[in-house]
Amino acid sequence: MSTPAPEDRKDTMVGTAAGEPAPDAAAKRGPSIATREKRQGTLNPSGETPYLVVEDLTVKFPTADGVVSAVNGLSYSVPLGRTLAIVGESGSGKSVSSMAVMGLHDRKRTKITGSIRLGGDEIVGLPENELMKVRGDAVAMVFQDPQSSLHPLYTVGNQITEAYRVHHKVSKDVAKKRALEMLDLVGIPNPIRRFKQYPHEFSGGMRQRAMIAMGLVNDPKLVIADEPTTALDVTVQAQILDLLNNLQKEFGSAIVLITHDLGVVAEMADDVLVMYAGRCVEYGTAEDVLARPRMPYTWGLLESIPTVSAANERLQPIKGLPPSLLSLPSGCSFNPRCPYKERVKGERCTTELPELLPVDGAGAHTSRCHLHDKASIYEAEVAPRLG
Ligand SMILES: Nc1ncnc2c1ncn2[C@@H]1O[C@H](COP(=O)(O)OP(=O)(O)O)[C@@H](O)[C@H]1O
Ligand code: SF4
Ligand SMILES: [Mg+2]
Repeated sequence: MSTPAPEDRKDTMVGTAAGEPAPDAAAKRGPSIATREKRQGTLNPSGETPYLVVEDLTVKFPTADGVVSAVNGLSYSVPLGRTLAIVGESGSGKSVSSMAVMGLHDRKRTKITGSIRLGGDEIVGLPENELMKVRGDAVAMVFQDPQSSLHPLYTVGNQITEAYRVHHKVSKDVAKKRALEMLDLVGIPNPIRRFKQYPHEFSGGMRQRAMIAMGLVNDPKLVIADEPTTALDVTVQAQILDLLNNLQKEFGSAIVLITHDLGVVAEMADDVLVMYAGRCVEYGTAEDVLARPRMPYTWGLLESIPTVSAANERLQPIKGLPPSLLSLPSGCSFNPRCPYKERVKGERCTTELPELLPVDGAGAHTSRCHLHDKASIYEAEVAPRLG
């Protein structure tokens, strides 16, 4: 493993551990936005020292039509052994932000600012070869579509073996043994036979498992799973999520799980970050965000999934469409679709971008909304609708 563990490096000690003021004390003094957002990134809602720290990340694509602001000042962090779910509608910047963490953007066509640290090492701005060194085998990505990671012309076994040998100087036989172990670990029956087969001989669920085996063969510290189960039927989906959960227990990796499915979030996540139009609009532990959400967009997302008690009820999709990332609306980006904006005095919703602030005046659960009485509106109006 080329990347040192966070605990091995003093300079990775962040937040209170590095002697910064405790969150509560700082909140009372009213820290600047920069300080607050910095803390948001470096201190995880769990209070643990994170492995991945994303701070004030901005990703822009200059295009013929103008600059697409896909990610605007995003901050979050994930400790080892913990799962962060990033949720939001299609086009909210989930994949673009994660590809920045993987260093997968085309440098010539993408403008990235802010900070992304893995085990304390900065990766934004690193030349390709140094990025490879820092990232090494420490990060793996699992995509929605296994076709994009599995080569059709090589056997599945061969691909997993080679993925292992890229990072380990071992004989083919040793690597093959490791690949067979991985196939077994991800629940592929008869690994010896499957090892010799091509991706097209696998079912969708099996291909997904094979891709996870390939992603995890190097025991990565960070796994980014981008809609890993979206293309699969419900039963296989549940199996793959179980698998990711079990593998996390086995390897202790940090997981960033990107999904638009709040059912998956409830099942898997320790922490949740809700994205809208390239910004974080709510962030906290899964318990906080799912049981005590404090942002109208999160309410809309929750209302758009069938609840257990009303499993067959129609979904209540959020009305309207996300804004164009070429020209975001002024004020709160959600204001053109927000049913609650009239409750905020004056024109603040349409003129002033809400800061990401602690929902109770302090603490790690934050949301971006001008409403004063979020808790009472949620309890009186939204929670009853959720059933
Ligand atoms: N290379 C690119 N050039 C221009 N726009 C892009 C590029 N890649 C993504 N985008 C835009 O960035 C926005 C966020 O995309 P994405 O992160 O893929 O959304 P999602 O939340 O669905 O994963 C989308 O509007 C998308 O069209
Ligand atoms: S700031 Fe205003 S428009 Fe934005 S979510 Fe809150 S109430 Fe709605
Ligand atoms: Mg995506």
